[in-house]
Amino acid sequence: MPSLFDPLRIGALDLPNRVFMAPLTRGRATREHVPTPLMADYYAQRAGAGLIISEATGMSRQGLGWPYAPGIWTSEQMEAWKPVTAAVHAAGGRIFCQLWHMGRIVHSSLTGEQPVSASATTGPGNAHTYDGRKPYEAARPLALNEIPALLDQYRRAAEFALAAGFDGVQLHAANGYLIDQFLRDGSNMRDDAYGGPIENRIRLLVEATQAIAGVVGPERTAVRLSPNGETQGVDDSDPVPLFTAAAAALSDIGIAFLELREPPPHGTFGASPVPPLSPDIRKVFAGPLVLNSDYTQERAEQALRAGEADAVTFGRPYISNPDLVARFQRGLALAPDDMKTWYSQGSEGYVDYPAARELVQA
Ligand SMILES: Cc1cc2nc3c(=O)[nH]c(=O)nc-3n(C[C@H](O)[C@H](O)[C@H](O)COP(=O)(O)O)c2cc1C
Repeated sequence: MPSLFDPLRIGALDLPNRVFMAPLTRGRATREHVPTPLMADYYAQRAGAGLIISEATGMSRQGLGWPYAPGIWTSEQMEAWKPVTAAVHAAGGRIFCQLWHMGRIVHSSLTGEQPVSASATTGPGNAHTYDGRKPYEAARPLALNEIPALLDQYRRAAEFALAAGFDGVQLHAANGYLIDQFLRDGSNMRDDAYGGPIENRIRLLVEATQAIAGVVGPERTAVRLSPNGETQGVDDSDPVPLFTAAAAALSDIGIAFLELREPPPHGTFGASPVPPLSPDIRKVFAGPLVLNSDYTQERAEQALRAGEADAVTFGRPYISNPDLVARFQRGLALAPDDMKTWYSQGSEGYVDYPAARELVQA
């Protein structure tokens, strides 16, 4: 059975290890959502990961409502990603771009328009805006005739991702954002071809994945799902048939890997009483399966040994341990991350987490 330090082939790429960096929003782009040189330093520091999945990156003006998060819908944004991917490659790494449409979780003060979703619903809680947190606004349902344009935006963002030097694209279909709002029956009350039975609710996921795969190839396309339990007010009454149907459809497309974020019951970044669906999904998804949420090195090794996963993504450990793979290899202590600087601007809490002293001296 493989260990975290064994190589792995995912689609078009040979990866040196199975320790992946999870997608992490950090808010170090400009107010116009243009990547900055600081981001090149940050990602290059973490190039030891088998694969880096970028922070969620807006695929359209409508879809991005997070202050100072990057986008990839304009040429300027695309050009500014080039030094980031180049720095990762120069440091020996590989990086996928996570494409994000937040659906009802945006605020109109950022996007300039009413949020859209599967149906007319409102997210619970408060949106991040440039003027602090503000209550979510009622979303309007996406009209049927708007969906082709949405798919075109996914295609264009995927083209830009390749042009910017990314090694592939991950569709963000998790965590209660637009695609997830369509998937689950708690937020999708449509009665057209995108609502109702499971085959309809997975339609947007499948079409968006096909749109991306049509541009970058299925072997450079990945998808992230969060099947076990409520997230940002999005939940499903019967998740196993829904998410196994979704995973089977993604398997048919032949994507490079499927990542599942499944918080455990006592999770420290989201917790869910719903057991993981990964054992069911493993049976229907033929490609590499990547698991996430609250994994330690030990728990990750166990999952690989048990054949439950082919790789594991680490989120918060990568914020504060740029040399995570080397620390795991040497059995070194991990540095704690500081929540105060997760989404702040500037270099503090971003590029100033040092490599382990033992590794610097070695
Ligand atoms: C600061 C922060 C930002 C995050 N941003 C994203 C994101 O952009 N896209 C995404 O899919 N998940 C995001 N997540 C979730 C992480 O990818 C991951 O699922 C979570 O941190 C649990 O994994 P961990 O226990 O290894 O940290 C974020 C989490 C944190 C802590």
